Amino acid sequence: MAVQIAPSILSADFARLAEEAAVVAEVADWLHVDVMDNHFVPNLTLGAPVVAALAKAATLPLDCHLMITSPERWATSYVEAGASSVTIHAEATADPTAVARDIRAAGARAGLALNPGTPLDGYVDMIDSFDMLLLMTVQPGFGGQPFRADVLPKIAALRRLITDRGIDLWLQVDGGVNAETIEQCAAAGADVFVAGSAVYAADDPAEAVRRLRASATNAQAAS
Ligand code: DX5
Ligand code: ZN
Repeated sequence: MAVQIAPSILSADFARLAEEAAVVAEVADWLHVDVMDNHFVPNLTLGAPVVAALAKAATLPLDCHLMITSPERWATSYVEAGASSVTIHAEATADPTAVARDIRAAGARAGLALNPGTPLDGYVDMIDSFDMLLLMTVQPGFGGQPFRADVLPKIAALRRLITDRGIDLWLQVDGGVNAETIEQCAAAGADVFVAGSAVYAADDPAEAVRRLRASATNAQAAS
């Protein structure tokens, strides 16, 4: 699949979210929205009301990454708020497939996120319930952390599984993705790339997105 880039507004100016969304509107594929509850992760960001306001103001589809406990209680409210994709964490709920069913029934794509230390093995049987798997390349909670290269073999293993099964599952990576690490991720088989600080800390965020896409596309073609 062609490379997709999802800038994370976690690194944007929260007082100017609509403008920050507009800056990448012509060059990105998704706007990645990090929802943190100060429970599943030790940080607090925003909830469904802010997502609803952003959905009205932004032209890009919203990719909501729920770093929250009990996503079964909240996931559909993010679809109702206007998210086109909602990703829950495998570590946060006893029955991820039930939440995926709810998300899809509400009208959005369903994603399953795994922390760096969570093995893929236990989730292989349920991947058909999801439209995307998110392999975290940092421990979730904060932007600006260094990329975890030890996750690369897991990315490659999931890509092999997707190819072997011939399924249409997107493989997203999130955390420490920048102009260099995006090449390693693309070569390993990722096709959807979240980037926070590499986009919003850049002098020209739109140009940063274009460069990330070019690096990933070249690495994908060469692999
Ligand atoms: C971290 C979030 C990421 C974060 C990535 O828990 O899920 O989406 O914004 O930020 P960078 O790209 O700076 O690592
Ligand atoms: Zn994220």
